[in-house]
Amino acid sequence: MAAVVGSSSSSSSSSSAAATRAPAAGAALAAASSKAATPGTLSLEMPWVEKYRPKELADIVGNEPIVERLKIIGEEGNMNNMILAGPPGTGKTTSVLCLARALLGPAMKDAVLELNASDDRGIDVVRNKIKVFAQKKVTLPPGRHKIIILDEADSMTASAQQALRRTMEVFSSTTRFALACNNSTKIIEPIQSRCAVLRYSRISDFDVVKRLREVCDAESVPSDKDGMAAILFTSEGDMRQALNNLQSTFAGFGSVTAANVMRVCDQPHPMTVRTIVDAAVKGDLDAALASLRSLWTEGYSSQDIVQTVFRVARTLDLDEPLLLDVLKEIGFTQMRVADGLTSILQLQGMCARIHQRAMAHGSKAA
Ligand SMILES: Nc1ncnc2c1ncn2[C@@H]1O[C@H](COP(=O)(O)OP(=O)(O)OP(=O)(O)O)[C@@H](O)[C@H]1O
Ligand SMILES: [Mg+2]
Repeated sequence: MAAVVGSSSSSSSSSSAAATRAPAAGAALAAASSKAATPGTLSLEMPWVEKYRPKELADIVGNEPIVERLKIIGEEGNMNNMILAGPPGTGKTTSVLCLARALLGPAMKDAVLELNASDDRGIDVVRNKIKVFAQKKVTLPPGRHKIIILDEADSMTASAQQALRRTMEVFSSTTRFALACNNSTKIIEPIQSRCAVLRYSRISDFDVVKRLREVCDAESVPSDKDGMAAILFTSEGDMRQALNNLQSTFAGFGSVTAANVMRVCDQPHPMTVRTIVDAAVKGDLDAALASLRSLWTEGYSSQDIVQTVFRVARTLDLDEPLLLDVLKEIGFTQMRVADGLTSILQLQGMCARIHQRAMAHGSKAA
């Protein structure tokens, strides 16, 4: 369905508009969108996360200091061993692949060994596959090294990481390692000390929206401001999640509005959640409990509800001491829910305590 909708006639005009606004990224996006299905044919569309995976470092948004550093390495060629650590969907794998492309160009095919969590990466693989690759002779551009990419390296066993220590040193004149992971503490210390650690953070709303708008233009996706805000709300700085939510909403409903995004992502609607917190803070506990009950009967779990309550509450315009108290109560409730106390009673208790806190602050202020 998405392929048919995505190939509407306005696609070419809006993709050229995107190209004018952001020349490098726009050209790549326009080229990608030109491969979309032709009208009348039913072809399976590629996931947008892959279709719009940046090919060059310049197309990566967010984490500017790190990307700038990688660009310099890409031009000058002196790549050191590195660990890229950070939350999912922030561009770690993409950055390593772009860097390898910048450094090696067409030689990348022979000079890069990429192993991820789906490959067997026990100690035998380190002893055999990685060592054999490191010893292999490959024709490289001058001043460049072979690159071994160990993606999702935090899932490698400690013994496999131990076996890597010496290999990294012995072959350092010909081979460099890039390890990508979510949690750098799962990489053993001796390896951390051999690498430069680049820490990625969640992508800012501004950068996510910038990228989403480029994709929307390239794919002719009708979207409004609230729809974009809903995607930001549901993706929390994870660009993969944002693109997936955008594509699912477009495929399901043909336009990106707040209501459509919330239906696809199946999260409690932030406006309903906001009425709960607002009512509790303003002293109308009955209204808060009634809205909570309506969310509960829609089938949302306590985990879903308490998480959304937290995300909504932290944006509320309250006095700081009260806001901190409210967040503390939500935090305690989240802890209880995570411990397995998932009945509505816990959520009702949370509303009551938020109400109590607000009243106490109100009487202090009075
Ligand atoms: N900074 C970014 N700029 C542009 N697109 C991005 C960025 N980060 C992620 N994306 C999009 O999200 C997809 C997934 O990114 P990537 O595989 O690099 O994430 P990751 O950080 O390696 O996540 P994980 O920790 O789950 O492996 C990419 O294909 C791309 O479409
Ligand atoms: Mg990755």
